[in-house]
Amino acid sequence: MLKGKKLGVIGVGKLGEALIAGLLKQSDLDVTDIIGSVHHEASIDRVKERLGISTTLDNRELTKDRDIILIAVKPQNMDKVVREIADQLKPNQLLISVAASVTTAFVEERLTQPIPVVRAMPNTPSVMNAGMTGLCLGTHAKSEHKEIAEAIFDCVGKTVFVDENLMDGVTALSASGPAYLYVVIESLAEAGVKLGLSREVSTLLASQTMYGASRMVLESKAHPALLKDMVTTPAGCTIDGLMELEEGKLRVTLIKAVVKAAERARELVNNQNSSK
Ligand SMILES: NC(=O)c1ccc[n+]([C@@H]2O[C@H](COP(=O)([O-])OP(=O)(O)OC[C@H]3O[C@@H](n4cnc5c(N)ncnc54)[C@H](OP(=O)(O)O)[C@@H]3O)[C@@H](O)[C@H]2O)c1
Repeated sequence: MLKGKKLGVIGVGKLGEALIAGLLKQSDLDVTDIIGSVHHEASIDRVKERLGISTTLDNRELTKDRDIILIAVKPQNMDKVVREIADQLKPNQLLISVAASVTTAFVEERLTQPIPVVRAMPNTPSVMNAGMTGLCLGTHAKSEHKEIAEAIFDCVGKTVFVDENLMDGVTALSASGPAYLYVVIESLAEAGVKLGLSREVSTLLASQTMYGASRMVLESKAHPALLKDMVTTPAGCTIDGLMELEEGKLRVTLIKAVVKAAERARELVNNQNSSK
């Protein structure tokens, strides 16, 4: 899907670097197919050294002959960067933004032509090629653009397309989600410490168990409740642990946490997009 494409990445920071590293490892693209841009001259050497791609400070130059332009600058820099490259873009180019809370409409309003735009919301495990990215299409994006965007983010994990009004849910669930799950891992590890295990062993037990449980859900495709039942022997110890979780309202707490984060994501979208 990506073979022969020329990619430009505006903003090779943490996420831009993770995406390029994933593409170089997992796709047909090589270092000659990708150009990056950064804000500070000192960052050029970092990018060259870590990724081996050409890097510039000139976003307009970068934009010229690229099939795909991926913008990975901070949300507050999106207005400036999109305006800077707007008159340079052609309808046969695809623009992808990963900026949190920045809608496709925000980007499209700043463009001078009907350019296909895709908005992506990846998460930090993308660095480990275990990312989860939610994607949605702008007004002029077609199925071919959908496939290209999917191919890019598949290189660093899994992808799912949703309607744009559901991107707050994606932000709250999979983008914020690692933070909730780190708290769960940390708490399980504390339990191990309380029971006399070393912190190192406890953290390994907790994190590998979460990894294994995730793989069971992903690969067996079984409902999590069914998998839970398979671990829960009648009159065994797991049911006692589950009863404590129910009493501590773990389920409703997690649901409320994600709903609250989605409300905040919506507020940030509204603030971001009202700053024209
Ligand atoms: N980190 C994540 O896991 C994650 C997850 C989902 C979405 N996102 C989104 O990804 C975007 C980037 O996040 P990040 O964590 O990668 O931030 P970051 O590490 O701060 O990277 C931002 C990069 O943008 C560059 N930059 C700033 N202004 C620029 C300009 N005018 N032209 C060209 N490059 C410019 C910076 O250059 P210098 O290096 O020279 O300063 C830096 O390399 C954000 O919009 C964020 O919402 C990130």
